Amino acid sequence: MKQQLEKILQQVYNPLTKKSVLEDNLLVRIDEGEKHTLVLLSNGDKKWQLAIEAQLRTLASKEGIAPDSFKLRWETKTQSQGPVLRPQQSLPGVKHLVAVASGKGGVGKSTVAVNLAATLAQMGLRVGLLDADIYGPSVGKMLGLVGRQKVELRADRIQPLEKFGLKLMSFSFLIDENQPVVWRGPMLGKAIEQFLYDTDWGELDFLVIDLPPGTGDAQLSLAQLTQLDGAIIVTTPQSVALLDAGRAVAMFEQVGVPVLGVVENMSEFICSHCGKTNHIFSRGGGARLAAQSQSVLLGQVPLVEECMAASERGEIPVHKTKNRALAPVVAAFEHIARNLLSRLEQ
Ligand SMILES: Nc1ncnc2c1ncn2[C@@H]1O[C@H](COP(=O)(O)OP(=O)(O)O)[C@@H](O)[C@H]1O
Ligand SMILES: [Mg+2]
Repeated sequence: MKQQLEKILQQVYNPLTKKSVLEDNLLVRIDEGEKHTLVLLSNGDKKWQLAIEAQLRTLASKEGIAPDSFKLRWETKTQSQGPVLRPQQSLPGVKHLVAVASGKGGVGKSTVAVNLAATLAQMGLRVGLLDADIYGPSVGKMLGLVGRQKVELRADRIQPLEKFGLKLMSFSFLIDENQPVVWRGPMLGKAIEQFLYDTDWGELDFLVIDLPPGTGDAQLSLAQLTQLDGAIIVTTPQSVALLDAGRAVAMFEQVGVPVLGVVENMSEFICSHCGKTNHIFSRGGGARLAAQSQSVLLGQVPLVEECMAASERGEIPVHKTKNRALAPVVAAFEHIARNLLSRLEQ
């Protein structure tokens, strides 16, 4: 049993260094007994510990080791452990990890994730986009990568796809279109974990994560598995949507993830024929939510038919800078990106 556990530990990696916990000398000892105790060296970061324990327990159960036949004990050394002790950096090589979330679906969360990522890339930053919306992965379709894609593995690492200068990974690349997704709870956490840590993101300034709507398992796993810089909450201006968005804000606060700001989408309708604007969903909601959550309003994106149409064609709306109807959308995302950058500098 002790040998079995040691063998498993060869395959458990330190999320910060990508080396096995044995290579990183994190194993202090294995105490044998009725219940074996693995004593591991911790950097004091609970999320990091959880990421290691999750791998260990998954591998152990695959090997037929009963979950209650061993336990983990973490020892914290106060002295610097070199690369092991960098709880601020959740993914090696990735400077900023930002999640895009919403209280409910259909408010434009994926639209914000895609166009924000593209705008940051146009500013010369290196950007990745992870579609973690397992229930309704739509980033692929919005970028013209419909359905299952050829995803390569190199040295056991998932190679992200590259398009429009963005590194991309989505659940939709791995499953057939129309295939229902029935993953729940722990499996979902595991899947998101793999997408984060087993994807070869390389060096990135930003990894933008499109989360599923709501306040469920995916959001929690992500908060537990990584050190997010924070979450951007997308809402539409009317009060019913704000109520749901408020719940999302509260959830992130509870799990200690800072809310970087609010994006109000569909803030006003701009008619593609006459150019007149109309606040069909009332107004001011985004600013109110930002004030309530003590964050900031990063920006407002107007409702423009051509924005939807571009996404339907697999094009990125903010890339269509020559299209006059999209100019307000381009300007909105530039404003949001600049506000996000200055917010991260604080
Ligand atoms: N500002 C906007 N203007 C026009 N259409 C939009 C806008 N934001 C989102 N849409 C459209 O609304 C639909 C839902 O947006 P989506 O980003 O998929 O929402 P979510 O990810 O929150 O479910 C999509 O068809 C999208 O193209
Ligand atoms: Mg979506």
